[in-house]
Amino acid sequence: MLTLITAMDEDRLIGRGKELPWRLPEELEHFRRTTLGGVVILGRATWEFMAQKRPFLDGRVNFVVTHKPAAWQTDVAEAGFDPTFGPHFVDTIELAVTRARREFPEYVEHLFLLGGRQIYELALRRNLVDRMLISHVKGKHIGDVYFPPIGPEWTGRVILKGKTFDVVEYTRE
Ligand SMILES: NC(=O)c1ccc[n+]([C@@H]2O[C@H](COP(=O)([O-])OP(=O)(O)OC[C@H]3O[C@@H](n4cnc5c(N)ncnc54)[C@H](OP(=O)(O)O)[C@@H]3O)[C@@H](O)[C@H]2O)c1
Repeated sequence: MLTLITAMDEDRLIGRGKELPWRLPEELEHFRRTTLGGVVILGRATWEFMAQKRPFLDGRVNFVVTHKPAAWQTDVAEAGFDPTFGPHFVDTIELAVTRARREFPEYVEHLFLLGGRQIYELALRRNLVDRMLISHVKGKHIGDVYFPPIGPEWTGRVILKGKTFDVVEYTRE
């Protein structure tokens, strides 16, 4: 099962330039707890921003989607590559899912799509997403990157209520 995970505000805002529009440590902790021990798939831009701090999200198998997987894989070999956590570069989300199932069966039970915007849109357009875990951040913020509208086929159920955000699990028939 592929779970899309994201945080958005009341306008569906998810990003400000390359960064998040807010600083919410408790939301990052929810994200960490939820994805730990699983496989995460992210776009090259989101990975590159994140990799300024560390080459991969630790405790999770990292797949990065790019048009140039071979070039990025070579570059990162020197910077820091872990045989399990990666990052493993692929040119499609589908290949990330196939390789995760084949190569990392002990992690693949929890398979997450981390964004950013291009990767979310791609996966939703191709009907690859089975479930969405959306942190609905309270209020409106400054930024320029938006999540696409959530279609009527998705049914939401609040699974966590917080001071600054609520987590809604969306599933569909
Ligand atoms: N609020 C949240 O939960 C959340 C989560 C994640 C990200 N974000 C935000 O999202 C923003 C970044 O999103 P983004 O859309 O700019 O970047 P992105 O989706 O992270 O990555 C875009 C890159 O993915 C690769 N890609 C896209 N389509 C592809 C395809 N069809 N085939 C192969 N590779 C493909 C390309 O890499 P190459 O150019 O290398 O080919 C492209 O440049 C930031 O503002 C970030 O803060 C928010």
